[in-house]
Amino acid sequence: MSEQASELWTIQRVLVWTQAHFRDKGIESARLDAELLLASVLGKDRVYLYTHNEQPLSAVERDAYRTLVKRRAQREPVAYILGQREFYGRTFTVSPAVLVPRPETEHLVEEVLGWVRRHGLEAPEILDIGTGSGCIATTLLCELPQARLVATDVSPAALVVARRNAERHDVAARIELLAGDLFAPLTGRVFDVIVSNPPYVDPATESSLPPDVRAFEPHLALFAADAGLAVLSRLCREAPALLATPGLLACEIGAGQKDAVAAMADVAAGFATTSFVPDLQKIPRVLLAEKGAAS
Ligand SMILES: C[S@@+](CC[C@H](N)C(=O)[O-])C[C@H]1O[C@@H](n2cnc3c(N)ncnc32)[C@H](O)[C@@H]1O
Repeated sequence: MSEQASELWTIQRVLVWTQAHFRDKGIESARLDAELLLASVLGKDRVYLYTHNEQPLSAVERDAYRTLVKRRAQREPVAYILGQREFYGRTFTVSPAVLVPRPETEHLVEEVLGWVRRHGLEAPEILDIGTGSGCIATTLLCELPQARLVATDVSPAALVVARRNAERHDVAARIELLAGDLFAPLTGRVFDVIVSNPPYVDPATESSLPPDVRAFEPHLALFAADAGLAVLSRLCREAPALLATPGLLACEIGAGQKDAVAAMADVAAGFATTSFVPDLQKIPRVLLAEKGAAS
């Protein structure tokens, strides 16, 4: 975007230029990202960009936009640049201290809601392990108005973001946020549901991750030892002692981890039934392990 031609920089032209620039940088969601950044600079929604595509940008708007475009071109995720991301129809605050909420994780929320409703639990006690931004915890509390929830994370900085999101969506009175390693802060407590989207990426695959993820998202949120299975293994082993009967352990898992996880969440571990729910790409994505009468 050169200075001389500044008067010609309409919304449409700016978007076309940025899309090509982002494509050159290897960014797949080039057009969407350009629109999100420009809409944010203008303080409008994306529809406005289409209905005002001949509107020229002021010098101040151009400068502000250029700064954001530079950050994205260096592969910083849009969610960190804007400080927010949509999840399950709500807007969540995010910072580099937390994983950017992913659409796949909405399946996990959906499965927990289905299980709670099928079991007629009016006021379930829920535990969210590795809450990060709190997107799972806050969404469940919004959708289940009588539920109470404990959310843990080993990262105190993540818990600050989780609290902000609970406050943003008016559920802070029903959430308890605890710092610590998995179940360590929870001695003697029992829950109807334990939900977790744990770190499950194999550290050996780090170099194949997109730079947006590898260079910007917290490694504590991404990687787990033992080919990505170390935290899932502990969740399967330790969760039954904290589950009521009936009780549900619901975890997001990585591509290709189903068989290994099925072997961990078996009868010997204390679960009566285990099943897996695929995501939109048909990849088994959610483990549902139930502690029931037979366990
Ligand atoms: C994949 S992120 C999930 C964040 C959020 N729940 C979501 O779905 O977007 C995993 C989270 O687990 C936390 N974590 C990693 N190891 C942990 C441990 N041993 N105990 C508790 N939390 C842990 C990380 O700090 C991170 O916030």
